[in-house]
Amino acid sequence: MKKRTLSIVAFSAIFAFATLTSCGGGNHQKEVTQEETTTEEDVVEKVVEETVAKPTQAGADLFKANACVACHQEDRKIVGPSLKDIATGYTDNTEGLIAFLAGEGEAIIDPSQAAVMAPQIETTKAMSNEERTSIADYIMSTK
Ligand code: HEC
Repeated sequence: MKKRTLSIVAFSAIFAFATLTSCGGGNHQKEVTQEETTTEEDVVEKVVEETVAKPTQAGADLFKANACVACHQEDRKIVGPSLKDIATGYTDNTEGLIAFLAGEGEAIIDPSQAAVMAPQIETTKAMSNEERTSIADYIMSTK
């Protein structure tokens, strides 16, 4: 990481010097400085994206492995509501969603179909709270 930063700085310094001597304008130096800043921000952004993407990946894997996908898709209703609709219904209430998966909540998305979902809750009830949280985070991320 240090080595990489050093080489970016060295490269920018050479580039800035070349730009200055060939064009001789102060404005050009400013442009080069901005380019350098963007490059480093891009690197940091990518690392942050990768770190943030991981928790929802774990939830997505659990959702698949436990056959929830048989009745739920991200964008459209099949047997059960879409994950987007579930996420919208639980806006600012991830705790409520986790409680539902623990068998401690009422169906709020489509109560008329609650009997279809009820047996599935046995699966999520048997999971750890951490696993239920991953699934809830994944569902909330689809909105
Ligand atoms: C046999 C089909 C079926 C399967 C399999 C299934 N679901 Fe559902 N699910 C439904 C139906 C139908 C509803 C709508 C009733 C309701 O809102 O509870 C629903 C609703 C939900 C809701 C919204 C609850 C609410 O407050 O209304 C969540 C969250 C959910 N399912 C998660 C899951 C998870 C996690 C799994 C996998 C362990 C799963 N479902 C597997 C059919 C299914």
